[in-house]
Amino acid sequence: MTFPRDFVWGAATAAYQIEGATTEDGRGESIWDRFCRTPGKVANGENGDRACEHYFRWREDLELMSSLGLQAYRFSISWPRIQPDGRGPANQKGMDFYRRLVEGLLEREIAPLVTMYHWDLPQRLQDTGGWASREVVERFADYAELLFDGLGDLVDSWVTHNEPWVTAFLGYAHGTKAPGLRDWEAALAAAHHVLLSHGRAVTAFRAGDRPGRIGITLDLTHVYGEPEAGRRLDGHRNRWFLDPLLRGGYPADMVDLYEERIGPLDFVADGDLEEIAVPIDFLGVNFYQPAIVRARHDDGPVGVEEIPDDGARTAMGWRVQPDSLTDLLVRLKRDYGDIPLMITENGASYDDPPLDGGEVVEDPRRLEYVRDHVAAVERALAAGVDVRGYYVWSLFDNFEWEHGYSSRFGIVSVDFESQKRTPKRSALWYRDLISEQAGEGR
Ligand code: BGC
Repeated sequence: MTFPRDFVWGAATAAYQIEGATTEDGRGESIWDRFCRTPGKVANGENGDRACEHYFRWREDLELMSSLGLQAYRFSISWPRIQPDGRGPANQKGMDFYRRLVEGLLEREIAPLVTMYHWDLPQRLQDTGGWASREVVERFADYAELLFDGLGDLVDSWVTHNEPWVTAFLGYAHGTKAPGLRDWEAALAAAHHVLLSHGRAVTAFRAGDRPGRIGITLDLTHVYGEPEAGRRLDGHRNRWFLDPLLRGGYPADMVDLYEERIGPLDFVADGDLEEIAVPIDFLGVNFYQPAIVRARHDDGPVGVEEIPDDGARTAMGWRVQPDSLTDLLVRLKRDYGDIPLMITENGASYDDPPLDGGEVVEDPRRLEYVRDHVAAVERALAAGVDVRGYYVWSLFDNFEWEHGYSSRFGIVSVDFESQKRTPKRSALWYRDLISEQAGEGR
């Protein structure tokens, strides 16, 4: 494989999934702390109280990143470490943790890519409606300013939000993620407020005349199957976010569908769509699997279901179809133009064999998944798509949200009892790929 010389190779994590230390140094409660304590929400009643103890072990983790030759590291900031109640001045101890982490990255020549929101809203903001309430937009804009002021001298690459679709629809409509609500009207309002808060943060970034770049990360899928059902799912999962961000408006077919099946979109105020469409420097793409669907009339407002098949699946039951990543990237260029793209997450959960005293965990299927998706990115580049980097999800086995600790996405294995980190074969393969590409890129 040959990638452009300046193509960036990284790995990604998120605060609640790895940090632990949920009451340390003044951190406030987040919606995930609360959700995990609600019976029946998370597998085995697990939570992020300890996770990978990254809050305490970050130095060791930086050494590990260096040993793998990572060129970049995407991590997220825990909002309730910075503003325990979601408002007011910065909690300096929280900010200092991230300053030390970023300084450590820079010393090792690992470029930080900072996600400002990866799902851990301060619980106090949820108490007044969370993302379903317009007030949160102001709060997020204030929080963004605190981050630019507190870290902007060290960090030059920002992602405002991770996966607005998940925040809004899994959090407020399906209820499988925090805050666990089942209210489609609230979910649509939440999606809008996430997008608007993104726009406000980008505008604040530009107003400060800050060096660097800012974008947003969407979880996108490529949809196959019955045309009409497919178009609806594409509208729901992809276009509902891509169109306002990159074309200045919500897609008309989906506006009609939502108004008919859910209710009026009366949370959209004059001027919002201009604010959301403020230009970004890159679009982050998280990609895991395609969707192959048909209509199902009793299946919620979108009315689609998966067409079952016996193709390869990960341990999450997710489809393994690397070509669909090429298809998605080519489609983004075709429909949305030449915006620089970054693969900000891609990876797979598989059940790994026990270490049994060995030094490397053998994970052939994860290695294959990553290798084949990297190759799919290469094909997109060859087709003229402007992809600038790839971040494997995830650096570590970690707290996989409602699935708890049993679902393992790491290229590095973590024993959650001893907290010992052990590379998997996929990590060593990735290390070799990075060094090869650094030497041979065209
Ligand atoms: C999220 C990660 C998550 C991963 C695997 C993405 O939706 O951003 O936090 O662990 O998928 O489920």
